[in-house]
Amino acid sequence: MGFLRTALKVMPPSAFRGFPRIPTAKIRAFSSVLSPPSKAVVYEQHGSPDQVTRVVNLSPVELKERDVCVKMLAAPINPSDINRIEGVYPVRPPVPAVGGYEGVGEVYAVGSAVRNLSIGDWVIPSPPSFGTWQNYIVKEESVWHKVIKDVPMEYAATVTVNPLTSLRLLEDFVKFNPGDAVVQNGATSIVGQCIIQLAKVQGIRSINIIRDRVGSEDVKEKLKSLGADVVFTESQLQVKNLKGLLDDIPEPLLGFNCVGGDAASVVLKFLRQGGTMVTYGGMAKKPVTMSTSSFIFKDLALRGFWLQKWMRTDKAQECRAMIDFLLGLMRDGKLKYEMQLVPFEEFGLALDRALGKLGSHPKQVLKF
Ligand SMILES: NC(=O)c1ccc[n+]([C@@H]2O[C@H](COP(=O)([O-])OP(=O)(O)OC[C@H]3O[C@@H](n4cnc5c(N)ncnc54)[C@H](OP(=O)(O)O)[C@@H]3O)[C@@H](O)[C@H]2O)c1
Repeated sequence: MGFLRTALKVMPPSAFRGFPRIPTAKIRAFSSVLSPPSKAVVYEQHGSPDQVTRVVNLSPVELKERDVCVKMLAAPINPSDINRIEGVYPVRPPVPAVGGYEGVGEVYAVGSAVRNLSIGDWVIPSPPSFGTWQNYIVKEESVWHKVIKDVPMEYAATVTVNPLTSLRLLEDFVKFNPGDAVVQNGATSIVGQCIIQLAKVQGIRSINIIRDRVGSEDVKEKLKSLGADVVFTESQLQVKNLKGLLDDIPEPLLGFNCVGGDAASVVLKFLRQGGTMVTYGGMAKKPVTMSTSSFIFKDLALRGFWLQKWMRTDKAQECRAMIDFLLGLMRDGKLKYEMQLVPFEEFGLALDRALGKLGSHPKQVLKF
C-alpha cells in the first residue's frame, strides 16, 4: 500500500478530475509497461463507510516482468467489506486502503515474463485480495485465476466469498443421508440462496427463515423457485410447536446462522437431538444465546466458520478447482442469485443500499 500512500500524498484534490488517459496501444507496445491511471474507492481511516470513503484518482503503476494489469469489470459490496472499512474485521489492510476484496477483471497488459495469462482473459484474485474497488489493478500473475467467460460478469465477480462459503458450510460439518434437512436464517443472502440450491442438488431439504418485511410473500416464492422446501418469516415462528410446521420434513441435523439474536435461537429450536449450529455471520449484531436445557437435553453443538481462515490453510489450489466447479453450475443455470449491477460512478448509492439505509436490496455489484 506504499504506492497508494504516496499517490494520495502527492496528488492535490484538483488532480482527481480529468486525468489524462494514455492511449491503450501505446501502453501495450512499450517495453516498460504502465497501467492507466485508476479511479479507486479509498479510505484513510476506519469508520462508517459512508463517512470515510471517497473516490480518488491514482497514478499509473509500472508493471514488473511478472505483473499483470487487470481492468476491473465488476466487484461486489459484501458485508465483510463494510466491516473492514469500519475497522471491526479481524484481518484488514492498513490504511489508507482501497476497498473491496473480490471481483472480476479483464487482463489489460502483461509483464514480459508472464506466461499463462493473455490480454482479454477474465481473471479473479484467488484467494481474494484487498483493493478490488478500482478500475485497474496491477498484481503478480500468481494472484490471478483465469475464469470462464460464459457466465455473466457479476457471477464471476461474486463466486468466491459467498458461494464458496455455502459449499464449505454444507460439506465440512456433518455427514448427510439422503432426505436429511438443514435450517438457516438469513435465507435471502447470497450465502443463503446458494445453500438452498447446493443442498437441493445433494437431495438435502432446506428450512429457511427470512426477516419480516413488506413483500415477504414474493420473497418466499422466489426462494421456493430456487428449491427452498419451506420458508418462514421470523414472526411465523413464534409458536410453541415448531415441528408441527414441518409436515414431512425431518428435524434438521445442521443449522446455519448469519444473523444472531432471536433469529439464531429459532434455528437452534429446529435442530434435532445432537444437532449442530454453525455461525458464520452476525447481521443483527446481537449475540447468540443457547438455553441450558438445549445443551443438556438436546446435546446441541455450536460451531463457527470463517472462509478467510479456511483459505489460509493448504486449500488455495483446491479452492480454485471449487471456484471452477461453482462457475460451471452458474453457467449451466444451476446456481443463481439476485444481484443489482450499479455503475461505479454511483458508488455512493450502491453503498447506501448495501448499508441497509434504503431498505432491503439485492447484492450491490459495482460495474466499472
Ligand atoms: N464467515 C465467513 O467466512 C463468511 C463468508 C461469506 C459471508 N459471510 C457472512 O454471511 C452473511 C451473508 O452475506 P452475503 O454477502 O451472502 O449477504 P447479502 O447477500 O449481502 O445479504 C445480506 C443479508 O443480511 C440480511 N440482513 C441485513 N441486515 C440485517 C439485520 N440487521 N438483521 C437481520 N438480517 C439482516 C439481509 O436480509 P434482507 O434480505 O431481509 O434485507 C440479507 O439476507 C453476512 O453476515 C456475511 O458477513 C461470512
